[in-house]
Amino acid sequence: MNFKHFALTTVATFGLLNVMAQKNKTIVVNTSKVTAQVQPEMWGVFFEDINMGADGGIYAELIKNRSFEFYKPLMGWTTQGSKMKEGDFLVLNRQESHANNPRFLRVNSTAAKRGDLGMVNEGFRGIGVKKGLKYDFSVLYRQAAAGVKLHVELIDSTGRVLGSGTLNPETAGNQWTSQSVSFTANETVEKAKFNLWFEGAGKIDLDMISLFPGDTWKNRKGGLRGDMVQMLADMKPGFVRFPGGCIVEGHDLSVRYQWKKTIGPVESRELIVNRWNSEFAHRPAPDYYQTFGLGFYEYFQLSEDIGAAPLPILNCGMACQFNTGEVVPLEDLDPYIQDALDLIEFANGDSNTPWGKVRTDMGHPAPFNLTMLGVGNENWGPQYLERLALFTKAIKSKYPEIKLVNSSGTDPDGERFDLLNTSLRKMKADIIDEHYYRSPEWFLSNANRYDNYDRNGSKVFAGEYAAQSVAIAKPTNKNNWECAISEAAFLTGLERNAGVVHMASYAPLFAQADGWQWTPDMIWVDNLNIYGTPNYYVQKLYSLNKGTDVVSILGDNKIISGQDSIYASAVIDRKTNEVIIKVINASSVEKSRNVVVKGAKKLAANGTLTLLQNQNLKAENSFENAINISPKEQPLAVKGNNVSLSLAPYSFSVVRIGMK
Ligand code: AHR
Repeated sequence: MNFKHFALTTVATFGLLNVMAQKNKTIVVNTSKVTAQVQPEMWGVFFEDINMGADGGIYAELIKNRSFEFYKPLMGWTTQGSKMKEGDFLVLNRQESHANNPRFLRVNSTAAKRGDLGMVNEGFRGIGVKKGLKYDFSVLYRQAAAGVKLHVELIDSTGRVLGSGTLNPETAGNQWTSQSVSFTANETVEKAKFNLWFEGAGKIDLDMISLFPGDTWKNRKGGLRGDMVQMLADMKPGFVRFPGGCIVEGHDLSVRYQWKKTIGPVESRELIVNRWNSEFAHRPAPDYYQTFGLGFYEYFQLSEDIGAAPLPILNCGMACQFNTGEVVPLEDLDPYIQDALDLIEFANGDSNTPWGKVRTDMGHPAPFNLTMLGVGNENWGPQYLERLALFTKAIKSKYPEIKLVNSSGTDPDGERFDLLNTSLRKMKADIIDEHYYRSPEWFLSNANRYDNYDRNGSKVFAGEYAAQSVAIAKPTNKNNWECAISEAAFLTGLERNAGVVHMASYAPLFAQADGWQWTPDMIWVDNLNIYGTPNYYVQKLYSLNKGTDVVSILGDNKIISGQDSIYASAVIDRKTNEVIIKVINASSVEKSRNVVVKGAKKLAANGTLTLLQNQNLKAENSFENAINISPKEQPLAVKGNNVSLSLAPYSFSVVRIGMK
């Protein structure tokens, strides 16, 4: 026998042995061995106004700097017109009498016709316009004598008019008045602009110059972008965490998130700078502000709309420790604690309570059923523990039923984490918020992170997680399949340990293609389009297949967490009477497994297999190929209590089988 023949024979023999060995591999699911309950809230979403997620994103306002409150009052606006002269536009500031919305614009017009005097707004990285869609323009104005007409129009980059309307303001005794006009667009354009032309002689004051598309979520006036909310609703998330994230803390305390300033009439919500405005020198966003058109009332409403539990996170008296790290002296913490108590009343109090009445007056007499509240975002150190103790005492003595979410800092390990995790567990914290922005390898090798956590101690909220293809906050990070499949593998460990891990959410949630600061992100949008990343589909598959009870799933009598690059978890759903098995093959070769389901009297003859798969770990979704990596469902034959699974390379399989 020559060497070549020997080599071929050996390879063939090993190949055969390998196939035989593969054939013999068995996964045993025991549906009568329940190891934990799955919380209804388990798989949720983390919302933060980062990457133009709110203003310029889900908050559907199309006019940037509508009330002239940005640092530069005319940012986003350009004045124009063949008859424009010095003094035609004046920014007035009434700080003393209108602290929340001090500025407005005075226009002195002598314009005889459209084109003589006007302004153009560039929108948030342009304005998305859809053919056939209605656009609703509104404005707050004041004029002593009738005289100035407003022509509003959307235009493309060549100046072609895509839709227009005219508004004849009345005098209304020189009082601030709101008026609106709607018009329909005749073309689809991704980056349009908005023109406001003046016609007639006179002086008119303007504020809150606003344009909304007609297809907002539930057709609410001044509402949210329908397609973005739909993507969330499709996930059936268990909770919505809001409003962040570092935005809760603010760069310094003066620009921390204060929920009371985000409710009531939109024109009275005091705008502040967005803390992501100047965070990254490589992605500057000087025009990034928070108008709070999406405020706490709308966050609660959004959660309710999509059947998710609201999870607000409040500032704990500390600014972002990556920035100034300002802290409120302990003796001055009361107003912060009062904000927390008042928020609970705002959400749950009846209409006879002061804050319950505010909610009722805003249009929601029924409570929002708040059950959880976060104190602090990524805060750490003894300063956090001191402040948290005061919050906890006050909240628990008035509202013992509210579960408090506490921070474990910025990382899932290290000194900050160890101090907080140990102290919070001693304090018997309800829920500890852990964050992991780590490499795909970390996610794979930490799939068993919670296997030995104390079942009777504090619960865990995996509050922010995302595999980073390069490194944390690097602009070159990608939402590629390698990251998503490593997350899928890691999530088997969260599901298996649902008795410890009560909730999980990917972060950040949204990114605007031209306006982002941080990547990777779960859902990407431009002015017209949207797509879910592979990471979105992973989270969605877990959420849609969460079941009610975790059950035993073993290979060679051991939990399946990385042996032979396979990761698995299983649940049953008592409502639909199904067993749901999730298996990840994180290797480049196909693997076969014989799945034996014990515990059920009988299994249905057919199940379904939902497959998320790609051979290329670098593959991504994109605006052009939005569902490149997306779930595909197929029937699956069940023989008795056996299922034969061929696990494709780099695949995430979800099997559902009815039980009798
Ligand atoms: O998700 C982006 C940021 O990451 C969050 O604002 C913060 O909590 C974390 O550092």
